[in-house]
Amino acid sequence: MRRYAIVLGKNPELSIAELRAFSKRFRLGIRILEEHLSGPNTSWVLIKAKEEIERYFRWLGGSLKLVWIIGNGEDAIEHLEYARLFTLSLYGNNDWRVWRKLGSKVKEILKRKDRTKFFKPANVYAMPGELLLKGFPETKDFVFFFRDGDILVGETVRITDPFELKKLDVERPVVRPILSIPPRLARIMVNLAEVRRGNVLDPFCGIGTILQELILQGLNAYGSDRNPERIREARRNLEWLRREFRVRKVAQLEICDVRRLRKCFRTRFDAIVTEPYMGKPLRRTSTKEEAVKMARELDRLYYGAFESFADVLKRNARVVFVFPAYRLEGGGMYRRNRPWLEELGFEVLERHLDFEERHRLIRDIHVMKFKG
Ligand SMILES: C[S@@+](CC[C@H](N)C(=O)[O-])C[C@H]1O[C@@H](n2cnc3c(N)ncnc32)[C@H](O)[C@@H]1O
Repeated sequence: MRRYAIVLGKNPELSIAELRAFSKRFRLGIRILEEHLSGPNTSWVLIKAKEEIERYFRWLGGSLKLVWIIGNGEDAIEHLEYARLFTLSLYGNNDWRVWRKLGSKVKEILKRKDRTKFFKPANVYAMPGELLLKGFPETKDFVFFFRDGDILVGETVRITDPFELKKLDVERPVVRPILSIPPRLARIMVNLAEVRRGNVLDPFCGIGTILQELILQGLNAYGSDRNPERIREARRNLEWLRREFRVRKVAQLEICDVRRLRKCFRTRFDAIVTEPYMGKPLRRTSTKEEAVKMARELDRLYYGAFESFADVLKRNARVVFVFPAYRLEGGGMYRRNRPWLEELGFEVLERHLDFEERHRLIRDIHVMKFKG
């Protein structure tokens, strides 16, 4: 077991849930020792984990950096490895004077070996995109975590690739910014399903964002949508994925109303991961009455969907499903409880919110187990 820190992305609470699921999914033995939650892109956790985490890390959607912890206190700087070019990232302290002082100190020490330089990132910490552009991993990122009068010193050993996620989003032939889920979130949801190998279905597949992720991760991907146009578009996107990412697997795609899955698939699934139809785009924030009405109407579709899920899922299968929650006029939010899920055999294990500023809808992500 090694000591690492992980720098979390936009939604730290969701990232931690993903990390726990990820640990079980790949048997990485992650133990979270400390949580330092300060906001988007600067929150971090201190963990113990098997070294294999380095191999799998790139498949996390909600994390930015994996930092190998070298030691405590400024003395640990002595143990940093040489790099011709490096930068510094500070978490828990955003004072540029501290950044510069530590940078000079690191430079002094590395200079004993050979010439070295450091560069200034946009903030007191470097984001993965900046690191990649500067030549990571040859270019190093030395990280200082400030916590109650103590500093942890480490070196970034892995990062997640924002350019890959961006490519998956905007370079595919069919792009629908309003309709589709961000690839980052698709990745998180696939991890929340905790399936390492097996058959996974997205029964509201749209243009196929979740399917792309399933295929990239080597899972058996199945998709359906009741709109034939969406299925054609998903097929085009997946064909593109095959060429661009050199994956061999293909998805089985069917035109199918979600309430008739049994008629469309012979397969039994280990998980369903999906973002369903969530109603018409909202022009403004809703009143409580409007929100209740919209949620109630959608629940009719969702009830039928879950009845149908029960027909095609294996026992103990996972369902990761996005229900809509609503931002309300004058503040607050409407987040519905659905006791009927239990009645249909679905135990709600976890719920996580994901806010998307552009949207007035909030994603209320449910992780469920089908008890059969
Ligand atoms: C929000 S989109 C899903 C987006 C998709 N997860 C993605 O990221 O590309 C919802 C999809 O549900 C489909 N849909 C709506 N009602 C349906 C039903 N009763 N059965 C199957 N699909 C349905 C729509 O055609 C639409 O493509």
